[in-house]
Amino acid sequence: MPTESNPRYDEVPYQSNPFARSHPRWIATIASLFGMQAPAPDGARILELGSASGGNLIPMAESLPRSSCLGVDLSSRQIEDGKRLIEATGLGNVSLKQASILDIDESYGDFDYIICHGVYSWVPREVQQRILEICSKRLTPNGIAYISYNTLPGWRMLGMLRDMMRFHASRFQEPAKQIAQSRALLNVLAKTVPSQDNPYGMLLKQSSEQLQHKADWYIYHEHLEEENDPVYFHEFMSRAAGVGLQFLGEGELLSMLKNKLPEEVQAALREVSGDILHTEQYMDFFRNRTFRETLLCRADVRLTRRIDTDRIKPLAFASDLEPQAGTMALAAQSEMTFGSGNRPTVRVSDPIGKAALLTLRDAWPRFVPALELEALVRKRLEFSPASSQTTQEFADRLWGWFTQRLVLMSATQTQCASRAGTRPLGSVVARAQLQAHPNQVTNLLHRAVMLGAFESTVLALLDGSRDRSALAANLATTVAGREALANGSVPLAQRIETALSRLASAALLKA
Ligand SMILES: C[S@@+](CC[C@H](N)C(=O)[O-])C[C@H]1O[C@@H](n2cnc3c(N)ncnc32)[C@H](O)[C@@H]1O
Repeated sequence: MPTESNPRYDEVPYQSNPFARSHPRWIATIASLFGMQAPAPDGARILELGSASGGNLIPMAESLPRSSCLGVDLSSRQIEDGKRLIEATGLGNVSLKQASILDIDESYGDFDYIICHGVYSWVPREVQQRILEICSKRLTPNGIAYISYNTLPGWRMLGMLRDMMRFHASRFQEPAKQIAQSRALLNVLAKTVPSQDNPYGMLLKQSSEQLQHKADWYIYHEHLEEENDPVYFHEFMSRAAGVGLQFLGEGELLSMLKNKLPEEVQAALREVSGDILHTEQYMDFFRNRTFRETLLCRADVRLTRRIDTDRIKPLAFASDLEPQAGTMALAAQSEMTFGSGNRPTVRVSDPIGKAALLTLRDAWPRFVPALELEALVRKRLEFSPASSQTTQEFADRLWGWFTQRLVLMSATQTQCASRAGTRPLGSVVARAQLQAHPNQVTNLLHRAVMLGAFESTVLALLDGSRDRSALAANLATTVAGREALANGSVPLAQRIETALSRLASAALLKA
C-alpha cells in the first residue's frame, strides 16, 4: 500500500536545488582532511532522505556516473516531478521513491553516503530520531551522513518572526493568502516599529527586507510550517552519539577554523573549550548561528583533526578568479588584482600566488592536482626544481588560499571541460532542466547557474552530435534559434563561440 503523501508539499512544492556542500565529492574531501578514508564518491551508494523532486540528487548522479543514487520523499507530487526529470535525462543510476523516512528498513540495503538537507528541523521528533537511526544502521563502516538543521541560539530570534507570521496566517485558508498576509504583517511591523536604538525594530526591518526577495514557496515552508524544532549543536550531537555516531566535521568547513575569529574570541575559546564539540558549541554562541550542515560517521572511525600539509598534497584545486584588466604583472612583488562576478576582488603580490591563480584560471573549471599545479607554477616562473620553495611550503600556501576563499579544493576530479571541443557535450541534467527553467540550471560543480536566452538555446543543442556549423544551421532555421538570435548584431559564429566559452566557464560542458 502506498504511503500517504505530504499535502503541504503537494500543494506548494519546494523548489528543489543543488547543495554543493552535500555532494559526496566535498564530503570525501573533508573526511580526507580529518584522516578518514571515505568511500570513493564515484561508485558509492547514495541515499537522500526528503529528496523532494531530486534537484540535489539527480545532478549528483550525473556527476558520479558509477554511483547508485536513491531519493525518498513523502510528497507524491514532488516525486512524480523528479521522475519526469530523470526520464528526460535518461540517467540509469538514480531513482526516486515515494515513501516515508519512517518506512526505511534493512530491505533498502546499506549506503556510503546518506544526505538529509532541510528536513530534520521540519519533521516531528519521531522522524528526527529515525533519520539518525537510519544513518546509524544503514551507513557502511566508513560511510558518512550529512544532516542539515536549524540551530539555536540563532533561531530564537527568527522564531519570533515565525510565531507572529504563523499566528496571522492561521486566520486564512488558502496558502497563497497565508503567504501574502504573513509578508504584509512583517512589512507593517517593519515600517511602524522604530528601528533606531531598538534591536526589535532592527530585526523586523532587516528580516522584512530579506524576505522581500524570497519566493512564496520558501516563506510557506520556512516560516509557516507547523513543525519547526531548532536545536543547540550539543543537543544534536548528544542525540547522534546516542545512536553510535560521532562528529566528523561541518559541511561549511571554514566555519570550523578558530583562526578566522577575532583574537579575543580565540583566547576565550582556549579558556572554556574542552574538546571540539565544546568549541563548536561556543562558536555558535559567538556567531548566533542559525544553521548547520553536520557530517557524522560511525563512532569507531579513528579521526585526526589536525590538518597538515600531507593531507593537502593529494588534493586538487580550482579557481575562476580572473586577473583584472591592466594589472597583469608576474614580476616580484608588483600587485595584481583578481576577481570574478560579484565577489570582492583580491590583491595578490607574491609571484607564486599570482602564477598559481593564472594557471588555475586557464584550467578552470577543471581541478588541478596540487603536485601538477606546483610543477606548472614552477614552469610559468621558470623556477629550477631546486628552488627554495618546497612542495611542503607550496601545499601550505594552497591551504592558506583555500581559507581566504581564493581556491576551491577537491579530493576527486570532476567531469568538466575547460573548453568547448569540436562537438561539445553539455550536462544532460542541465539540458533537461531547461524545459522547466530556461534560465536556471545546475552545473557539473553542483551549483545553480543563471543563463541568458541565447546561452540556454545553445546549451539545449549540445548533445555531442553537433559541430559549430550544425549549431549555426540549427539556430538559423529553428523557431527557438531565431528567437534567441533576435536583437543581436554580432555575427552568429562569434555569438556561438562566446556562448560556448561562457558555458564552459559555467561548468556546463563535459570533458
Ligand atoms: C523543506 S523540504 C526540503 C527538500 C530538500 N531536501 C531541500 O532541502 O531542498 C522537506 C522535504 O521533506 C519531505 N518530508 C517531510 N516528512 C517526510 C517523511 N516523513 N518522509 C519523507 N519525506 C518527508 C517533504 O515532503 C519535503 O520534500
